[in-house]
Amino acid sequence: WNTTSLSVVVVGASGDLAKKKIFPALFALYYEGLLPPDFSIFGFARSKMTDAEFRDMIAGSLTCRVSAKDKCIEATEKFLKRCFYSPGQYDDAKSFSELNQRMGEVERGSGKPRSNRMFFLSIPPNVFIAAAGGAADYCSTKTGWTRVIVEKPFGRDSASSAALGRGLAAHLKEEQIYRIDHYLGKELIENLTVLRFSNLVFEPLWSRQYIRNVQVIFSENFGTEGRGGYFDQYGIMRDVIQNHLVQILALFAMEQPVSLNAEDIRNEKVKVLRCMRPVKLEDTVLGQYRSRVHGGRTLPGYLDDKTVPEGSLTPTFAACAMFINNARWDGVPFLLKAGKALHTRRAEIRVQFRHVPGSLYKHKFGPDLDNSTNELVIRIQPKESIYLKINNKVPGLGLRLDTTKLDLQYGNAYNAKELPDAYERLLLDVVNGDKRLFIRNDELEAAWDLFTPVLHESESRRVTPELYPYGSRGPVGAHYLAAKYGVRWGDLANDDGDE
Ligand code: BG6
Repeated sequence: WNTTSLSVVVVGASGDLAKKKIFPALFALYYEGLLPPDFSIFGFARSKMTDAEFRDMIAGSLTCRVSAKDKCIEATEKFLKRCFYSPGQYDDAKSFSELNQRMGEVERGSGKPRSNRMFFLSIPPNVFIAAAGGAADYCSTKTGWTRVIVEKPFGRDSASSAALGRGLAAHLKEEQIYRIDHYLGKELIENLTVLRFSNLVFEPLWSRQYIRNVQVIFSENFGTEGRGGYFDQYGIMRDVIQNHLVQILALFAMEQPVSLNAEDIRNEKVKVLRCMRPVKLEDTVLGQYRSRVHGGRTLPGYLDDKTVPEGSLTPTFAACAMFINNARWDGVPFLLKAGKALHTRRAEIRVQFRHVPGSLYKHKFGPDLDNSTNELVIRIQPKESIYLKINNKVPGLGLRLDTTKLDLQYGNAYNAKELPDAYERLLLDVVNGDKRLFIRNDELEAAWDLFTPVLHESESRRVTPELYPYGSRGPVGAHYLAAKYGVRWGDLANDDGDE
């Protein structure tokens, strides 16, 4: 960076994601000293704004972690001075030429002979290709690299995703494209490979021989609230399961990669995804939240959201059973579940182990042996933690057993009250050209192949989602689905102490 400046362009700068995630993440990288010395940020969007108005707009969403509180005011002022705004249309060559000119002026002002440029496309899919083309064709740097970050939705199914892919490929090389899935930037997801491949006690158990089932669970305790316009076109399967949960599953179940190199890791992820059977409609439960009166307040149903079309059948909850047809996982149910407007906000992986064969203590657990099996829980959020449920003798005379936890709470163990946001890690990876945590095109294709048939079938048959009350634990159908494969959802056991 001694001779090179960095320009970051946020296309769709006045959108929600930009304000809530992208600018705060760039700011955190700045005050942590992780951005190169000569960086500038450019906002590009349709609204007319001056630099000053743009700076005011983003200033409202910049905060510092407690550890950086002392330098916060000064850092904010300095950061904002590096922010510029260029208005324009996403499909207009002239707008991108103007942006290019503006960037050139600022870059020349830095006195560095070379410049690298990265673009974050935070815009609706219908203008995606046009904007990628504008950025690539009119704003590529001549003296360094140009990288483009794209955020889901990557299409609605295999065909539309492939069309988007072709559109991007017309303007950019694969090495320039960074497909973001922000779940891959979460601390515990990054830790998943470390946990598996650097501890002898886990990897040997990581197979059908010892694992009964695996559950990947995502729940939010709020509804679509104003985001219905976007959400209704996609639904929870496309919004969360096909990407975030499947990515977790792939990392969880893949074979050990040859190295930590991005291509080696992604090769393994693609391989395991391609071993999976597409999800079947009979292995899927769809739900939609309805209104509920709670504590004298009416919590709105999905259909009460003004941005949702009347009578919409879009699911806000889905659960499905998936199987991996390889030697390691044959027959093990992987149950995925995601829902909005549920009783709690949480994301976790639950690994339920088999019974101890010939256990000496069987009689201590009554007829329901499932109560005594080990369970490993990887809590992605909130309150990041990893714990293993084990059977233990209750101290004292006599022989009473109970189930307790070997418990790694990040808050206690690492004094890590505030972990960096996923977007910070991922943006930094783009600056460094590290693609480990980004989705490769064949990976995306494999993930769509798993869900396209069930999405098409449920939509063409107009499957009515099962209603569940806002703030509940979701549709009853999810229990039947789990029971069909001899599974009980682990998150309903109320054993976490923080319900
Ligand atoms: C987004 C989905 O990708 O992830 C949202 O579009 C969802 O619907 C969000 O709310 C959840 O992210 P996080 O990081 O808050 O768990």
